[in-house]
Amino acid sequence: MCGIVAAVADRNIVPVLLEGLRKLEYRGYDSAGLALVNAAGLQRLRAVGRVAELAAQVDASGAAGATGIAHTRWATHGVPCERNAHPHVSGGLAVVHNGIIENHEMLRSRLQAEGYEFTSETDTEVVAHLIASELKKNPDFFAATRAAIARLQGAFALAVLRESDPDRIIIAREGSPLLLGLSDHGNYAASDASALLQVTRRIVYLDNGDCAEIRRDGYRITRFDGTPVSHPETLSQLSADAVELGQYRHYMQKEIFEQPVAISNTLEMLGAVRSIQPGLFGANTEALLTDVSQILIIACGTSYHAGLVARYWFEAIAGMPCNVEVASEYRYRESVPDPRMLVITLSQSGETADTLAALRHARSLGMTRTLCICNVPESSLVRENALRFITRAGPEIGVASTKAFTTQLAALYLLTLVFAKLRGVLSEATESAELQSLRHLPIALAKVLLLEPQIRAWSERFATKQNALFLGRGRHYPIALEGALKLKEITYIHAEAYPAGELKHGPLALVDKDMPVIVVAPNDALLEKLKSNLQEVRARGGELYVFADADSKMDAADGVHVIHLPEHYGQLSPLLHVVPLQLLAYHVALVRGTDVDKPRNLAKSVTVE
Ligand code: M6R
Repeated sequence: MCGIVAAVADRNIVPVLLEGLRKLEYRGYDSAGLALVNAAGLQRLRAVGRVAELAAQVDASGAAGATGIAHTRWATHGVPCERNAHPHVSGGLAVVHNGIIENHEMLRSRLQAEGYEFTSETDTEVVAHLIASELKKNPDFFAATRAAIARLQGAFALAVLRESDPDRIIIAREGSPLLLGLSDHGNYAASDASALLQVTRRIVYLDNGDCAEIRRDGYRITRFDGTPVSHPETLSQLSADAVELGQYRHYMQKEIFEQPVAISNTLEMLGAVRSIQPGLFGANTEALLTDVSQILIIACGTSYHAGLVARYWFEAIAGMPCNVEVASEYRYRESVPDPRMLVITLSQSGETADTLAALRHARSLGMTRTLCICNVPESSLVRENALRFITRAGPEIGVASTKAFTTQLAALYLLTLVFAKLRGVLSEATESAELQSLRHLPIALAKVLLLEPQIRAWSERFATKQNALFLGRGRHYPIALEGALKLKEITYIHAEAYPAGELKHGPLALVDKDMPVIVVAPNDALLEKLKSNLQEVRARGGELYVFADADSKMDAADGVHVIHLPEHYGQLSPLLHVVPLQLLAYHVALVRGTDVDKPRNLAKSVTVE
């Protein structure tokens, strides 16, 4: 999604803006731009493609200035092209914007009637003209910007610069993340703290409905109506190394290999406890969970798949009814509310617009028992839930989610055990065995990662395929879904996943010698059934690529390729079985030469509907 960096300092801030944009590249974008105020006035540069293109323009023009705003755009309204790239300008001011202005068409017509000419198809240009129009009524830059914002509907983070007011930048937040960075040499704003670590760790998070004026020597925050407000200054704990590639070629590769450490960090608190306590999910947990009637999990994409796995656990281990819904569907569906339902939202970023809206929808229906599992402690989702569990995967930069998924699963498993204990269905012996199993997970994951050379060898064959089918059963069906999503996202090979028992109800028609069929085959109660399903594929000439467990008794044969995972891991087996599928997608993408970390058309954090 789009990214914003803004700076007012006592020195040339162009290198800071460009470095900030580079740090935001992971969010996904298709054009970039910046605007500066310097001795020559307002200067704007824009480029389609990578930040490197913009940097080349900066070098060629020698652009410099002490006040500036910069942006990476992920196209929503209007194709990716220079004309649509931000900043957008009007009457000596420049605006960058993340999010969507929902009433832009109505505003555009009014502004056109006032004589404003539009040069782009974006909703953002409306904001630039609207502020220019308000400035005619009230020359105070901050007040006029707030008046314009009051007329906007939708989600936005904005940064505005004015030629005739060169020592300040106005920013605003409603539904899209935005924060301030403070330093002795100047002050900054960005959509993500990682963009500002180069200059400061002193961060002030804005709330929805906040505006701020940032100057070289200070800042002030108000609500949209002008009421002053203050927020605490925090010291970002984000390590600069955590967002560096280090020895790895891609962030996705780094993040796959970080999974043992990510799980170990997420479950760190288990090192010190002898039993599972609800308090692991926050002080109020026991009171909130005690008479929960059912669970509803809401999420998108990979997080949704984590929810699907968890449903098997909640029902089988804790006897707790559980439903899982795609957030963008739930928010618009007429559903039956239940005030005793626990609503769990899952999100890596905590800023996914659909998930946030679905949570608000659930709350509006009277469901106040809410819990989120999220990887970003300062995110909107974390702030809006009654209970929260922060996964400690560290920053996930690759668009294809990997370590966020496995850490979500670890957290969900822990929650399952909390429920089982509260409901009196977890014996002491089982509790102790489960704790042991969770503690051993990092080692088990590290062993699975050693399979990489075998998986790399398979990837050459896949690289030439146009389609792939993924099969799984039971709690591994969502793992098949996740494997197919990974392959689609980063290799652009069409992939679909089915519960293996469904094959004969339709998809078997697709199977021929050109269709690789990837099978998740742990040694669980459904293995024999799964083997019969695989016979159906072989009988039609389909080529099988099976991820089995060491003791699965499945051997390679004509048209059947098998990789054995080191150990069977019982209920937690989905955490291990997803890893080879992540590696397979990664290596196929390498062979196909796609942009692994920034796949086409996708954004890391989907902050628009
Ligand atoms: O940040 P979230 O977990 O809420 O994001 C949800 C999805 O957008 C995300 O999982 C997406 O599907 C990933 N690109 C999958 O790899």
